[in-house]
Amino acid sequence: MRRVTVPLPDRSYEVVVGSGAVAALGDLIPASAQRAVVVTQPGIPSQFRELAAYVPGVAVDVVEIGVGEVAKSLNTIQQVTQSFAGVGLTRNDVVIGAGGGMVTDVAGFAAASWHRGTAVVHVSTSLLGMVDAAIGGKTGVNLPEGKNLVGAFWQPSGVVCDLAALATLPPREMRCGLGEMAKYHFLTGDDLLALDLDERIARCVEIKAEIVAADEREGGRRALLNYGHTLAHALETATDHDLAHGEAVAIGLVFAAELAYELGRIDAGRVDEHRAVVAREYDLMTTPSVDVDIDELVALMHRDKKAIAGLTFALDGSNGIEVVTGVDEQRVRSALERFLP
Ligand code: GLY
Repeated sequence: MRRVTVPLPDRSYEVVVGSGAVAALGDLIPASAQRAVVVTQPGIPSQFRELAAYVPGVAVDVVEIGVGEVAKSLNTIQQVTQSFAGVGLTRNDVVIGAGGGMVTDVAGFAAASWHRGTAVVHVSTSLLGMVDAAIGGKTGVNLPEGKNLVGAFWQPSGVVCDLAALATLPPREMRCGLGEMAKYHFLTGDDLLALDLDERIARCVEIKAEIVAADEREGGRRALLNYGHTLAHALETATDHDLAHGEAVAIGLVFAAELAYELGRIDAGRVDEHRAVVAREYDLMTTPSVDVDIDELVALMHRDKKAIAGLTFALDGSNGIEVVTGVDEQRVRSALERFLP
């Protein structure tokens, strides 16, 4: 079993990675908790939803939320927090988010809001959740206007990444996790695919933990974790989530390279390298398989949370990947015209 610490000043926490890691759940629960509400979804394997055996002495209730991005909504937060009220969850108790990134984002936001802040522990069951969503305390839900527009920073008290959950993960969801892993490849240059799966997940957690510890509230460096995400979020919304997050991130990474090239920040060889890593090493799509409208994508990118000073992207360049604000819309359009099939 591997244990990676997310080293935050006054609330460091552990991420336990390995086959059978769920058995460590009890170590991660606050000592004050007498009751836990497990927030989960239909389809999550029973060994990751029926968690009472791992938290002896704690009364456990379960609430299920809907499946799909449409259920990542304020209505769901109302439903979940009403279930907290129904069982008398107190601020000393704990919420357990058991599922993929959508579940842990919703459970985390419900916990952040409940009595203005109740502990949450995540049992992450998807590759994307293990390497990204469950780590670092970003929580929230979507609005019709865009993804993750309402949320809070709320760090978990611990995270379980049990590899057994990946055995039954549909191939498409595995690919989504690979999209986020490809992002870490470009951020660090690490050959992650050379590592065994548990080492690879633990390494991604370490990379993210180090960045989150340096900049928990995304005042600077954490924005690098959004590499590939500006176009990705727009693609997800424009395709009504036909493109899943990790698939869209993979495409967004290649577009970020095209845009960096358009702006003279990198050469054509580095763009080819992005395409080759995403397509050949990670076996992911590099352009959308469905028609998308450039005007709509540009409008959505203007609405992105990161766009506080005009169109904003994490872009590669001679100093490595950095956040670039106020990118000229015409250059973005030119890069999109060249990039889209
Ligand atoms: N998923 C990007 C972050 O957690 O900052």
